[in-house]
Amino acid sequence: MIRNSSLGLCLSGCRSLTQLAELPETHQLLRQTCRDYADRELMPIAAKLDKEHVFPAKQIHELGAMGVMAMEVPEELGGAGMDYLAYSLAMEEISRGCASTGVVVSVNNSLYIGPILKFGTVEQKKQWIAPFTTGEKVGCFALSEPGNGSDAGAASTLARQEGDQWVLNGTKAWITNSWDASATVVFATTDKKLKHKGISAFLVPMPHPGLSLGKKEDKLGIRASSTANIILEDCRIPLENMLGPRGAGFRIAMQTLDSGRIGIAAQALGIAQAALDCAADYAHKRTAFGAPIGKLQAIQFKLADMAVAVESARLLTWKAAILKDSNKPFIKEAAMAKLAASEAATFCSHQAIQVLGGMGYVTDMPAERHYRDARITEIYEGTSEIQRLVIAGQLLKEYQS
Ligand code: CAA
Repeated sequence: MIRNSSLGLCLSGCRSLTQLAELPETHQLLRQTCRDYADRELMPIAAKLDKEHVFPAKQIHELGAMGVMAMEVPEELGGAGMDYLAYSLAMEEISRGCASTGVVVSVNNSLYIGPILKFGTVEQKKQWIAPFTTGEKVGCFALSEPGNGSDAGAASTLARQEGDQWVLNGTKAWITNSWDASATVVFATTDKKLKHKGISAFLVPMPHPGLSLGKKEDKLGIRASSTANIILEDCRIPLENMLGPRGAGFRIAMQTLDSGRIGIAAQALGIAQAALDCAADYAHKRTAFGAPIGKLQAIQFKLADMAVAVESARLLTWKAAILKDSNKPFIKEAAMAKLAASEAATFCSHQAIQVLGGMGYVTDMPAERHYRDARITEIYEGTSEIQRLVIAGQLLKEYQS
């Protein structure tokens, strides 16, 4: 028998499913706005930013004015007050134009603002989120250390209490946005014997006495964003700068990364789509054997495989975002989305170079930049191997229950 309550559930389920095929009007509009911005303002300068390692300060300001630097933040705190589906759409379009700009946007939204929005007090939100919504300031997230990247629970940066202050000592590694950031969320242990249960999260302004930056890393890709060590030497902050309860740092980091992985999946999608666009465009224009190469079956097979990889990863990414927006479990889906999208980016950028041949191998065309940019999406916010661990862990839990 069909009952009202189950019909209600079914209808809301159908609405979510529809979103996977046809976006709501608000989201279509946002997507188009971000796409137009990326075409006009990012695509023409992405190669120069990459070559010269220039932080896109003007563009980050403009994206702040558009609401893109704080998509999920309520309007009263200065954000766009939108959902994660909207964020993933914006991330894809921005990253299609410039993957470096994409990661700056992603780290500010998901890794810096995200945990403060979820675990911060009212005062912390006012102080540490509001100024980071406009694009004038960006934040960063300091979890990894030189001795532990994937094994995040082994953090050895120490936080000791001295009177009314926390004193932080240690080195955080590979910190995206670090050279351009005005604050960071730092994970440090108050008691290493407690392993992951000893880790807490702290809010540290930048610059700050006792905090210094290592050299700017010279990276393979996403070269317009900065990456460096953050070195903490007797770095003193007030007690109220602890974010969330003492000992909850590992949980905060894991939950932050679960959401962040949707943003990186969307960044990877943007790279994959840009590679497909570049290859399809070239297939129309380049002639060989007396016809455009798009007429050759060898090229058509590549384009078809690329399109399937992009579209399936996009559906997984939207599904993860919709689940999160519906307050449903999404850990497995976020890891699946990141895994699929990063592999799509690697695959599509590799195939795009093959379609372009020699032209794909030189910097006159964007294919080689997409190939370099794609690679990091299989590493940061959890390597592809970590995503598989997370997926399998969740899957086994489901079978157990
Ligand atoms: N949400 C909430 N809690 C979680 C969780 C999650 N997703 N995953 C684990 N936990 C909890 C567990 O329930 C467990 O709690 P209890 O101790 O209370 O039982 C605790 O955390 C420990 O869980 P595990 O034993 O599963 O943890 P683990 O040490 O084996 O590690 C891991 C699990 C998935 C490998 C995790 O360490 C991980 O995700 N590593 C990758 C780290 C990463 O992504 N780093 C990226 C750095 S940031 C970055 O890249 C930024 C950038 O540049 C853009």
